Amino acid sequence: MNNRTNMCGEITAEHAGKQVILKGWVQRSRNLGGIVFIWLRDRTGIVQVVFDGNTISPELLALAESLRSEFVVEIHGSVRMRAADAVNAKLKTGEIEVIAESATILNTSKTPPIYIEDETKEQENLRLKYRYLDLRRPIMQDMLMFRHKVVKLLRDYMDEQGFVEVETPILSKSTPEGARDYLVPARVKPGTFYALPQSPQIYKQLLMLAGLDKYYQVARCFRDEDGRADRQPEFTQFDMEMSFIDPEDIQGVVEGAYQKLFKDIMQIDIQLPLPRITWRDAMARYGSDKPDTRFDMEISDVGETVRGCGFKVFEEALADGQTICAICAKAASHLSRKELDALGEFVKTYHVKGLAWAVVNEDGTLRSSFAKVMQGDSMDRLLRKMDAQPGDAVFVIADKKYVALTAMGQLRLRLGKELKLIDQSKYNLFWVTEFPLLEWSDEENRFLAMHHPFTQVMTEDIPLMDTDPGAVRAKAYDLVMNGIEMGSGSIRIHQSDIQEKMFNLLGFTKEQAWQQFGFLLGAFQYGTPPHGGFAFGVDRLVMILRGAESLRDVLAFPKIQNGACLMMETPADVQQIQLDQLKIQCVPEEK
Ligand code: AMO
Repeated sequence: MNNRTNMCGEITAEHAGKQVILKGWVQRSRNLGGIVFIWLRDRTGIVQVVFDGNTISPELLALAESLRSEFVVEIHGSVRMRAADAVNAKLKTGEIEVIAESATILNTSKTPPIYIEDETKEQENLRLKYRYLDLRRPIMQDMLMFRHKVVKLLRDYMDEQGFVEVETPILSKSTPEGARDYLVPARVKPGTFYALPQSPQIYKQLLMLAGLDKYYQVARCFRDEDGRADRQPEFTQFDMEMSFIDPEDIQGVVEGAYQKLFKDIMQIDIQLPLPRITWRDAMARYGSDKPDTRFDMEISDVGETVRGCGFKVFEEALADGQTICAICAKAASHLSRKELDALGEFVKTYHVKGLAWAVVNEDGTLRSSFAKVMQGDSMDRLLRKMDAQPGDAVFVIADKKYVALTAMGQLRLRLGKELKLIDQSKYNLFWVTEFPLLEWSDEENRFLAMHHPFTQVMTEDIPLMDTDPGAVRAKAYDLVMNGIEMGSGSIRIHQSDIQEKMFNLLGFTKEQAWQQFGFLLGAFQYGTPPHGGFAFGVDRLVMILRGAESLRDVLAFPKIQNGACLMMETPADVQQIQLDQLKIQCVPEEK
């Protein structure tokens, strides 16, 4: 039996005079000659242990003197109040200390390659290589416990709402989320493969067919995409599906979960229903389907304002039916020519031809890349429309509508960050609704499903499927917080005629559709209830709530950008015999 009486971080003044048995790691030791102070750490915190040579045996003092960082020890002793001038306000246990009466070294440790402290200057790669040591840092322990609390709260909430958690297979078939699959070769049938699920999408729809009515799952998902701060190749979704619902029903469940989460974990009240903005509005005002609304700087359409201005770029864009959009950055007139040029280069990476800028200096004079070619009072009209005051900078982009808006949205975000306009204490949570059903791919010269091929069409837009597919809106919605897509969902198609039309629009023949999704289409013939669902990223949620910069900070064992795990050294070679069993031959990489 474990004889431990207390956890290190939980000892307070109330324990003064009590005997305790503690177990933990040596955070640090200080030998003042005849008296040794140890900071003993476990997952709850740190407590000071004193080995006083005046009261203990020479053997115990010698043992104390031999303790090094990260040795594992068991300490028996009594709790004593510290003298007023020795209180350490930085430690939760700073009012007390433990006077050691006996101690056992349970294990020694090599000198750790990283410092185990919250304030770390270690290279991230080194921390990830020794992640098991990195996870000993109190901040990381706290993160793991925080994450546990979040998921437990969500599970309890879903249970109260009548949802049933069902685990779905990991050895699965390609799902339609649009990223590259991770494949697993099947030994029993060489040349065939399982795919790791990008999400439980198809299984959860089949569970609705099976009559489960309300499903959820804390689901591992796998997508072979390039890593980013908010993207990991394997991640966790809080996934759900319901039958006989409208979008508002599932949104209500999700909102309720977030309200409870914010109340119980962050002590923040969220008003419901959450605000809603349509996809079209989000794009027009913020140039993004996941706008960061913690600052203003909204985009304006200035096409009509500059019509007839004489500037060829604008005139030609208008004649082509393109969009001319602008933002006004307040207090940005300090931007140098070099910085403005850099912004021009930046927007070009979003496929626009260029950036026109006009800076109203503090003294009211104008610096501009295009003012001299603007005729008459057209420049004044533009500045007035954008409400540009002395000290402000106006930026204008002309291009195809969504190309221009997307580039402007990225510029808005960059300026928001650089001009420090983002209030980091805010949590702006809202729905983006009425996503387009389809998006055109120039690369593939066909429509792609914006969410996935089972997304339901908005009833009033069904006729547009025949006449103007690009304009069809879907019963699809995203949840956005602070400029990050938290989650995404939709009502699904349950009628075979609409499903067939959808596959047609995606350029699938009936045979191709059946080949890829036959098991679902076949199943749909047996009384499919109308249904819909949602999934949000648990990792992203924890990242935002913890104010972390990257998903790597909120996963126990994350992967780096190229998908590698520095600790396990994966991906890794396997034995030839394993490949032989799978009938796999590796082609040497070309130099
Ligand atoms: P979607 O593909 O939008 O929807 O994914 C839902 C949410 O999962 C999170 N997410 C990720 N988090 C970390 N790393 C990644 N690589 C990653 N990819 C996605 C995001 C995202 O919003 N089956 C549908 C949901 C549905 O329609 O019910 C789906 O998977 O937070």
